Order: sequence, then C-alpha cells, then structure tokens
Amino acid sequence: MGLTTAACLAHLGHRVVCADLDEARVAALRRGEIPIVEAGLAEIVASTLANGTLTFEVGAAKAAADADVVFLCVPTPQGPDGGADLRYIEGAAAEIAAALRPGALVVNKSTVPVGSTRAVEDVLHRPDVAVVSNPEFLREGTAVTDFLNPDRVVIGADDHAAGERLADVYAPLRSAVLITDPASAETIKYAANGFLAMKISFVNAIAAMCEAVGANVDDVVEGIGSDERIGRSFLKPGPGWGGSCFPKDSKALVKIAADYGYDFTMMKGVIDVNEEQRRRMVGKVRTALGFGPGGGLRGALVAVLGLTFKAGTDDLRDSPSLTMVRSLLASGAKVRAFDPTVGLGAEGTKNASLDGIELAADAIAAARGGRVLVIATEWPEFAKLDLDEVAAVMADDAVIVDARNLLDPAAVRAAGLRYDGVGRP
Ligand code: UGA
Repeated sequence: MGLTTAACLAHLGHRVVCADLDEARVAALRRGEIPIVEAGLAEIVASTLANGTLTFEVGAAKAAADADVVFLCVPTPQGPDGGADLRYIEGAAAEIAAALRPGALVVNKSTVPVGSTRAVEDVLHRPDVAVVSNPEFLREGTAVTDFLNPDRVVIGADDHAAGERLADVYAPLRSAVLITDPASAETIKYAANGFLAMKISFVNAIAAMCEAVGANVDDVVEGIGSDERIGRSFLKPGPGWGGSCFPKDSKALVKIAADYGYDFTMMKGVIDVNEEQRRRMVGKVRTALGFGPGGGLRGALVAVLGLTFKAGTDDLRDSPSLTMVRSLLASGAKVRAFDPTVGLGAEGTKNASLDGIELAADAIAAARGGRVLVIATEWPEFAKLDLDEVAAVMADDAVIVDARNLLDPAAVRAAGLRYDGVGRP
C-alpha cells in the first residue's frame, strides 16, 4: 500500500519521498527492484524514479522533514485480543514528530480503530500540524489500477480546510471526494471491508445450500446479480476469503463494536461462515479420497494448484489454500503444490508457512500420481490446463476439487476425471 501510494502520487506529478526502515529494501527499490508481485507497479516505479519525482529514503524522520503532506502507510496487524495493534503507527508518528515542518499535514492511510486519528495527534503532540484520516480501498493484485481509478476518496478531518488540502493532492484523479469527520472515515473502512466479506460469506453459504438442494450457484448468482440493488461483484464462491485485510478487519470490527457496547452478531456470523467454508473445502477433499470426516488420510497424495490467498499476488497471508493444506497434512496426507509465484529455491523453502509441502515446478508435475487435484487459487493459467494431460498423469478415477469454480465441469468430465466445484451440481 505504501509503495503503490508513493509511486502513484509521483505519477500524478507530486514529488514523493518514500521511506522504509529496512535498508536493504530501500537499496533494492532505488535500483527499481520491486519486492512484491503487483501488476503495473514496477513500470510506474521505474518511470517515476527515472524522472526524479520518486526517491527512497531510510527512516521516516528524514523523509518527513521537508514534506507538505506525510502519509502513514504502516501495517496494523491483529493484536492478541482481535483488535488492531497500533504499535507501528504510533512508532512512525513518534519518529516524525520533531521533524515535521510547521503546518504540515499528516495523513493516516493505515486501517485503524475508530479514534486513532486522535491517538496519532496525541503522539505527535504538534498543535501546528493537522492529522487527517484517509482510508485506502485498493486491492492486492490490482493496486495500481485501483489507486488511479478510485470509486471515491474518503477523507476524515476535524478541520475541513485540512481535508480540502488533501483533496487537492488527489485532484488529478478527478474522483468523487467525501470529506467527513475522522470517526466516520475510520468506520467507512471497516464497514466497506465487512460488507464485502459479508457478500462473499453470503454467496458461499448459498453455494452450500445449492449443493444440498441440487441448484447451480452460477445461475443463482447470475439471477440475483442482475438485480441492480444486489450487483454481480464480490459474489464469486470460493474456498473462503483470506489475505491480510478481511480476516483481521472483520475481527477488528467485532472488537470495536464490543468495546463500545454493541454485540455485532451479524459480523460474527460472517466470520463463522468463512471458517465453515474453509472446513467444507477440506471435507470435499476427504470425500474425493473416499474418507469420512475426521481420521487419518494415510499417505494419500493431494495435488494443490495455487497457494496465494488469491490470484495476481504472491501474498500467502491467511491464505485459504494454506489452511486447507495444513489440515490435510495434519491428517497424514501428502501435499504436492504448484503456485506460479512461489519459488522452488531458497525463497520457497525459507517460508515457514510452506513447511511440509512438496513444491512442484509446474501444474502437471504437481498433479502426477495424485488422487485429488485441488484448484485453490484462481490463477488464469489453471483455467487453460490441458485436462487430457492432467488425467493421463493422475491416478485412476482421480477427482478435481475446483474450490474456485475455475474449470468447466463438462470439460473435466470429458477428460475422464471426476469434478466437484463449489455450489455446482
Ligand atoms: C480488500 C478490499 O477488497 C480492498 O478494497 C481493501 O482496500 C483491502 O482489502 C484492504 O483493506 O487493504 P484484498 O484483501 O487485496 O482487498 O483482496 P480482495 O480482492 O478483496 O479479496 C479478498 C479475499 O476474498 C480473497 O481471498 C479473495 O479470493 C476472496 N474473494 C473475493 C472471493 O472469494 N470472492 C469474491 O467474489 C471476491
């Protein structure tokens, strides 16, 4: 989020200094090396580095010293009680406090509990500096496009003039801008992520129902999605939502509500359905292998295509694929996996979340000898698999568990494989 924001603001014509604590990372960024998979980001960093609008710096204080506007884009991981851990944002605020020039504008883009804008003001202790909230709505994988084409820019400011100053920074985007108070802006961020997670949990629950009654979720989504009041987006059934945002933000929303005396049972249900959906995917693999719920899987070989939490990113954080893999490994299954962004070398093996997984060089190598092949991430290349080749290398009577409804069931069956999707008859 920080790097995308920095590069895109430079692209809009601002002079941007992007800071990080990690010296090696800053050195790599100065060479134009991007540490993550994110479409279009390398190009925009290269062009803004080349024209001098983007530079990198070690340490926040140095970067903030001459700035008119300072964006805080640090992580707010989940704390032990389900709430957001504010230590990085408070640390960053403390680091820049003395360096800020009079009249500077501090913008918090990190996802923080309601009331945190005030907490940043308290840490800064600089009455001459305005602090505003500016939640971010970009998605991993499409971050650059999302940044440059926002549906809206939300700004939370006690001082309307400070809000207008930030709106000016975004003026080249010609986006709708909502200036509100900080508590409302902070609530908008959680409400947006909570609502999107709710849509996905809803469709996953409907998919479970479709399986029970023999309906087809593809048609059900088409039927409800064409109602403009419902819309088609974020209604793709899958293995459950994951990543670095929905899981932590949905729990934080429940926690914030509880802290203020509201029992947000609906959001708890959204989270429960998501956990149930992840378990349902494991159940599908067990059924495909001929085992009932619980008990060991005794060395059964399961092939898994896709490890990231969604396509278009190399992010493994809270990936439904890894939840499923860990459950299968714990039951004694062998897992061989392929993901286009997970390397076979040091990069793959150094990541503890991949422990116990045999990494394959490609999809066919992963499938070889397997009794079940799971499509866990919707990488477009998996939709183009040569299904005859897959059937030829897999064990007899093999099953494809398509946790992303990526494949055409008829084509899978025509290749001599069995098929089990999500909510498809
Ligand atoms: C999400 C929000 O979409 C962004 O607007 C927000 O800025 C971001 O969190 C954040 O708070 O920083 P992101 O986590 O990158 O973005 O990814 P999404 O595209 O929202 O996907 C989240 C999860 O939902 C993934 O596991 C994805 O596979 C799943 N999903 C998404 C579905 O299962 N079905 C869908 O129809 C859409």
